Amino acid sequence: MSLGARRCLGLVALLAGLLAADAGVTSPYRRKLEATADMPLDADVFRVPPGYNAPQQVHITLGDQDGTAMIVSWVTPNELGNSTVMYGGAPDKLELRAEGVHTRYDYFNYTSGFIHHCFLKNLKHRTKYYYAMGFGHTVRTFWFTTPPKPGPDVPYKFGLIGDLGQTFDSNITLSHYEENGGDAVLFVGDLSYADNHPLHDNNRWDTWGRFAERSVAYQPWIWTAGNHELDFAPELGETAPFKPFTHRYPTPHRAAGSTEPFWYSVRMASAHVIVLASYSAYGKYTPQWAWLQDELARVDRKVTPWLIVLMHSPWYNSNSYHYMEGETMRVQFERWLVDARADLVLAGHVHSYERSHRVSNVAYDIINGKSTPARDAAAPVYVTIGDGGNIEGIADNFTQPQPSYSAFREASFGHATLEIKNRTHAYYAWHRNQDGAKVVADGVWLTNRYWLPTQDDTN
Ligand SMILES: *[C@@H]1O[C@H](CO)[C@@H](O)[C@H](O)[C@H]1NC(C)=O
Ligand SMILES: *[C@@H]1O[C@H](CO)[C@@H](O)[C@H](O)[C@H]1NC(C)=O
Ligand SMILES: *[C@@H]1O[C@H](CO)[C@@H](O)[C@H](O)[C@H]1NC(C)=O
Ligand SMILES: *[C@@H]1O[C@H](CO)[C@@H](O)[C@H](O)[C@H]1NC(C)=O
Ligand SMILES: *[C@@H]1O[C@H](CO)[C@@H](O)[C@H](O)[C@H]1NC(C)=O
Ligand SMILES: [Fe+2]
Repeated sequence: MSLGARRCLGLVALLAGLLAADAGVTSPYRRKLEATADMPLDADVFRVPPGYNAPQQVHITLGDQDGTAMIVSWVTPNELGNSTVMYGGAPDKLELRAEGVHTRYDYFNYTSGFIHHCFLKNLKHRTKYYYAMGFGHTVRTFWFTTPPKPGPDVPYKFGLIGDLGQTFDSNITLSHYEENGGDAVLFVGDLSYADNHPLHDNNRWDTWGRFAERSVAYQPWIWTAGNHELDFAPELGETAPFKPFTHRYPTPHRAAGSTEPFWYSVRMASAHVIVLASYSAYGKYTPQWAWLQDELARVDRKVTPWLIVLMHSPWYNSNSYHYMEGETMRVQFERWLVDARADLVLAGHVHSYERSHRVSNVAYDIINGKSTPARDAAAPVYVTIGDGGNIEGIADNFTQPQPSYSAFREASFGHATLEIKNRTHAYYAWHRNQDGAKVVADGVWLTNRYWLPTQDDTN
């Protein structure tokens, strides 16, 4: 579709949104509809670190369920080098060591560098560690702070980012998140968009890794698998789904009792975070279905009052892009999340922003006609945050009128933050890219569904 046609449709959508007398807000803010181009290969953010065989694309994620382990990953380009990580409380006192493992993969005619994964365990909570790798060639040193011990009133600040890609807009999103200063990122899928390049050019996985390093080497990002992680390309002879993603981005799924890296859970401070897989089977009796049933029974809201669920494809989405793609998973799992009194469900996939009221749609039984989402104080808030700024551009065609479940929606790039204050209160804020990091374009105090289950906080 041409930009002119998009702009025209956008205007029609805007007018219809303003005329609709519904409760929700379709923001009148109009983003400039420039093309969203990937940053060129020689962009500053893709620069290869200097030094022979220097570790690059350094990234960390939690290594266990409670934040006393960290998985450190990086790539060496020239030769295997050394997989050891040395770490400790000061940059000149790296007294602890962990031996890593390495892997490589081929994708059509691309061969990856040496991908190292090193597991640091028995870490202390809420402690700053310096860590270094690349011994024998070029040593690089980074640091992270482990999350605090899980507990009901432990404050924590999450960044919420989705569908980031590697455009100039992606860079603005990441910069704004850095200015907002979160402790960890809940990432709802679609990392590099390498698959939008010819032959799924896996060099774009490498550039993405170098681009994101400035944040993800210093704080854990919790990964969700999106459709752009599939890299399923039988026409290229690539028939093993998720090949680049699984080689590059491990998750602590075994610690969570999961059998696949795509669904798992972690506990950080006062939050229990469950990651679901939109592109793995979730029908009755499947491994994911069985795992989620057990997992929800393991959640202890007295220890971690905030129950947050991540997935890629949203269950509540009033944008015509990817409309109803999350529906089969919603039908399968929504009842469980309502019964579990989940606080917040985060998804990406749709390249715009939307936040719901507390609604559920669990009354339908095939003959009773009750197939409409209804206000339900026990239900989660649904946020679609697939607006990181990738090469595919903005999804700017909302359905009209705005459905009553939709509280706020806007076709702009941005990111959100979730500041958990204590067991009852958390401040959720969405930051539109055009405003600079400090301006909140949509903000709401969320109250906890376990401690304040009947308080409707999203009106
Ligand atoms: C892979 O194949 C493409 C298309 O034939 C070609 O342009 C590219 O240079 C090849 N890459 C390598 C690493 O051989
Ligand atoms: C890797 O580096 C560590 C730390 O300097 C060193 O102790 C170890 O012997 C090295 N391993 C190899 C195989 O060179
Ligand atoms: C990306 O953002 C950083 C931080 O704001 C900036 O230094 C850098 O020049 C930007 N790079 C590009 C290619 O926009
Ligand atoms: C916009 O969405 C409507 C459905 O709400 C659809 O009928 C229409 O084809 C969409 N337009 C474009 C350009 O995708
Ligand atoms: C929890 O945090 C909120 C927001 O900062 C505050 O108003 C409330 O008093 C706090 N509750 C307790 C029990 O400290
Ligand atoms: Fe997606």
